[in-house]
Amino acid sequence: MALAEQNLHTLLGSNAHEITGAGGYLAEAGGKRIRPLLTALGARAVGVEGDMSRLMCVGELIHLGSLLHDDVVDDAEARRGKRAAQHVHGNALVILTGDFCLARGVLLASEEGGHACVSGLAEAVLAMSEGEVLQLRRAGCLDTTREEYLDIIDRKSAALIAWCSAVGAHVLDDADRARAMESFGRAVGVAFQITDDVLDYGGLVGETGKGVGKDLRDRKLTLPLLIALERDPGLRAALAEAPSEDALPALVQRVRATGALESALTEAREWVDRSLTHLNVLPPSPYRSALEDLARYLADRVS
Ligand code: IPE
Ligand code: IPE
Ligand code: MG
Ligand code: MG
Repeated sequence: MALAEQNLHTLLGSNAHEITGAGGYLAEAGGKRIRPLLTALGARAVGVEGDMSRLMCVGELIHLGSLLHDDVVDDAEARRGKRAAQHVHGNALVILTGDFCLARGVLLASEEGGHACVSGLAEAVLAMSEGEVLQLRRAGCLDTTREEYLDIIDRKSAALIAWCSAVGAHVLDDADRARAMESFGRAVGVAFQITDDVLDYGGLVGETGKGVGKDLRDRKLTLPLLIALERDPGLRAALAEAPSEDALPALVQRVRATGALESALTEAREWVDRSLTHLNVLPPSPYRSALEDLARYLADRVS
């Protein structure tokens, strides 16, 4: 992880130094680095040997690009405990730095992996763009179904997590294990995003460095809200219009009061249980055990 961190710093280098500034601002603000970690554990668990510290940066570069873009799209105030990058560096530079990060990630995948790595990654980036657009389309649509929600989060978050989990198997040209690791990553990714959506309502305990109530402000039909709408019949009318900033804290409280956060977390844990069945194709190893622990952590995390 330390070597990957050094490489990430180098990979954000550009003689258009503004890009290094804006990319470094986000990269150095923190972040859990779960995509590099999943890449490393997934690769070691299928038998990849040697230095993987550049390959580990691919998922984080794509993630950084998607965060830079997402915070413009979502008009976010804060990220990783700091002001969102566009408030410091401006929309134009942040969007272009996001493009740089995405292209840097794809280029790196072509250098470090084979054709299957690059095409799979490009497919993940397509899915992420589509997921974000579908989410925009459904914002404020109170008739959104669980199936539509799951489709959105599968594309916007799980696709990249699946790629990170499976890339080691692709490097070894091991198609069977790549399929299993991809299925593992998809289910983990769904659990991960459900928990992110719970944390947006303040979680059970926790502090994300991103603020509370953004999803409700934007009337995103995430799982906590879908469950709350089933349980509190008056909530639908209260959300017929976009809520004002003043009304937001009470509405967040109202969603919490339905027990929706606990129920959504139960569903996240069920996705983790499902994910773990796909690891049965792997021989027992410390890496496989760490993948199991990481999957559980991603549902139960508090930040
Ligand atoms: C946040 O991802 C964006 C989502 C896909 C929900 P993370 O929770 O992995 O963010 P960092 O990297 O730790 O900041
Ligand atoms: C965005 O989902 C996922 C990305 C691909 C960036 P969110 O909008 O829920 O992510 P946060 O909560 O801003 O990190
Ligand atoms: Mg967002
Ligand atoms: Mg979120």
